[in-house]
Amino acid sequence: MKSAHITGVGHYVPEQVVTNEELTNYMDTTPAWIVERTGIKERRFFKEGEDTVSKMGAKAAKIALENAGVEAKDIDLIIFATLSPDYNFPGSGVLMQRELGLKGIPAIDVRQQCSGFIYGLSVAQAYIRSGMYKNVLLACGEIQSNVMELSDRGRNMAVIFGDGAAAVVIQTSDDTSKGILSTHIHADGEFAEELMLEHPGSNRKERITAEMIENGDLLPHMNGRLVFKHAIVRFPEVINEALEHNGLTITDLDLLIPHQANLRIAEHVQKEMGLSNERVYNNIQKYGNTTAASIPLAFSEALQAGRIKQGDLVCFAAFGSGFTWGSALVRW
Ligand code: UT7
Repeated sequence: MKSAHITGVGHYVPEQVVTNEELTNYMDTTPAWIVERTGIKERRFFKEGEDTVSKMGAKAAKIALENAGVEAKDIDLIIFATLSPDYNFPGSGVLMQRELGLKGIPAIDVRQQCSGFIYGLSVAQAYIRSGMYKNVLLACGEIQSNVMELSDRGRNMAVIFGDGAAAVVIQTSDDTSKGILSTHIHADGEFAEELMLEHPGSNRKERITAEMIENGDLLPHMNGRLVFKHAIVRFPEVINEALEHNGLTITDLDLLIPHQANLRIAEHVQKEMGLSNERVYNNIQKYGNTTAASIPLAFSEALQAGRIKQGDLVCFAAFGSGFTWGSALVRW
């Protein structure tokens, strides 16, 4: 069987930096509360008319392609993971395909929120292993700042989420000792409503009403404490699942890159798994929670910072809305 290797990584974040201090102009919060509860110091907000999810994905993709030494025309499949597509339909995959001038090749959108990158990797790996596609571009992007209410009502979510994009090139290889060793994906729809953006949905005659706007029902809703409780159980579980599947243990792991949901969640997992600071990479401090983009954005920066060497064992793990969760183990 073929192996799927990540051969290029890139990221793009909007220019505008929004500090915790700035958020205090709009809502009853303090930089100390935000840092203590989430670890976040600043995040990026997109520029209207310049940044779109698909354009940010394309910018990240161009860097990933360059790093992989692959020309855009050699890509034979696009996968785009986002919870904030440019349009309700069509998906952002086709828009990025147009942006990159890749007429004709298929584009799949993945809608698994915080687990979007892991789900996307599993789709890419399955296609590559089957021999159906050879050069896959997986892009992840989010614009969330415009669905946050910068007010007291919206403060529990507004301080957390940010905008950004990242992409990876995944290619076929005969070397099965390296690359994506395995992916593990899960879901439990029982908790679908605990972290959601309900409206405008297709289940009502009137998709948008004045009442919905007034009540703030067009904003996302999160049961933060419940998500937190489930996250700290599912992360270790799915990391161990990946290690056990490959006959490895936590001592074999060189770097864990968890979904950047909340620094407290990552630190909880780190402690439970007995990992030193050198063996976990976080950058939520700078970008907040960028949902599907968070893992590849952290991966891209970890590579730039020299935190990943040839032969290192790297684990990606995610948990979020759905609930969905998953992990991937990569021999770099
Ligand atoms: O990537 C998607 C997955 N999402 C996550 O993994 C998020 C998981 N959950 C969390 O990260 C945390 O639950 C939050 C950061 C969202 C909230 O932290 P918490 O420690 O669970 O706080 P809480 O919701 O229990 O609220 C504690 C207090 C409340 O006040 P009272 O009721 O104790 O008076 C909130 O009203 O903090 C208040 N609060 C705030 N205070 C200042 C909520 N948001 C804010 C805020 N600034 N921004």
